[in-house]
Amino acid sequence: MIPWAKNGRPRTTCVVGVQWGDEGKGKIVDLLSAKADVVVRFQGGGNAGHTVVVGGEKFVLHLVPSGILHRGSTSVIANGVVVDPVQLVEEIEHLRGRGVNVGRNLLVSERAHVVMPYHKLQDELSEGNGERKLGTTRRGIGPCYADKAARKGIRIADLYKPDRFRQGLAALVEEKNRVLGALYGAPPLEAEKIFNDYRGYAEKIRPFVGDALEFVNAAIDRGKRVLFEGAQGSLLDIDFGTYPYVTSSNSDACGIPAGAGVPPKKVRQILGVAKAYCTRVGEGPFPTELNDDIGERLRSAGREYGSTTGRPRRCGWFDAVTSRHAVMINGIDGLVITKLDVLDTFDRIRVCMAYRLDGRRVGKVPVDSQDLARCVPVYETFPGWNADTSQAKSFSDLPRAARRYLTFLERTLGVPVVMISVGTDREKTIRR
Ligand code: IMP
Repeated sequence: MIPWAKNGRPRTTCVVGVQWGDEGKGKIVDLLSAKADVVVRFQGGGNAGHTVVVGGEKFVLHLVPSGILHRGSTSVIANGVVVDPVQLVEEIEHLRGRGVNVGRNLLVSERAHVVMPYHKLQDELSEGNGERKLGTTRRGIGPCYADKAARKGIRIADLYKPDRFRQGLAALVEEKNRVLGALYGAPPLEAEKIFNDYRGYAEKIRPFVGDALEFVNAAIDRGKRVLFEGAQGSLLDIDFGTYPYVTSSNSDACGIPAGAGVPPKKVRQILGVAKAYCTRVGEGPFPTELNDDIGERLRSAGREYGSTTGRPRRCGWFDAVTSRHAVMINGIDGLVITKLDVLDTFDRIRVCMAYRLDGRRVGKVPVDSQDLARCVPVYETFPGWNADTSQAKSFSDLPRAARRYLTFLERTLGVPVVMISVGTDREKTIRR
């Protein structure tokens, strides 16, 4: 697989997560961005935490695409992203403070919806309520997308129409105050203060705001290399994930057309990133979760703590059932397996091939998350390799048992493994 194959067709590639997020997409996007002209985020918001290590220096990006770390590419926050301007300004200032150029190489869609203080408050309050806790990142993502769908959202472009913005905001805040006050006893928010704060942020981000829709489509049509950077993972997709324990956007390749305004036929190639095992943060079913010392070893060897919230991640074995589901909905062309080195010290390694549910063997992801939670994995067990893979430079450098494991994964998912990551640094990547 050549990520930037030409053949006269659009040179577009998408990187998506195969699991519940945190698969290590940041590093892979960073590697591909080195040759990309444009890198586009098309969904999610500040809930994402993309970790990239460059020359031993660690960057955690939440809203700005990882492409920003490369000179020569433009990073686009497209219309499908929900933008918290407070966080965006902070992130830009932080990046600049560390010597990263952020200027004309960042474009924020004027159509993107804005995360408002009441969205964050609502996320916080409804999570704190405990009844149907989802374990969200409390970044206001769900409430912001809900308002977008209810046609009560504020878009970036609206921030630059002060009179209308002030008027609309006053009505919205009044409504939110009533609802949040009645439901949670929340003290009222002050519309005028929010207006003034957000006008301030609007001016700070003004140089980056523009027509991302035209820009991305024109770049594709001119044969530029355009990379779509998925956030979260396919199993957190609002339509195809483990609903309701999902995020509020289409966090797989299905999100690109609506989230960036790019016709499906222009998306050429999809790379799916999966860990060599599996993790999840927040609530929700996770059939292969290990609540034992093996799970604990995976967490400590893989340093499995959330990059946005710092929460310990739940850990377990690779799940071929959920991964096949992800392959199907994304149309994955090539797999990137990350963190293979984390498995270096395990005597045996397992892959879930199917589930047992109410005495039946189930080969696909049940639609009901409560059923998925009751599924018992049917495992295939492999001998471990008990050797250091972190120094491997090519597939043939890997121990035989590791090669067998990877070959098994590609056979069982029906997709070639095109890249393997054996460490956080850019160099610790094996291409096939
Ligand atoms: P929200 O996106 O903050 O609404 O959270 C909904 C669910 O998605 C929770 O289980 C979060 O832990 C999870 N989630 C959101 N963003 C990420 C991410 O970037 N990585 C992993 N999990 C995430």
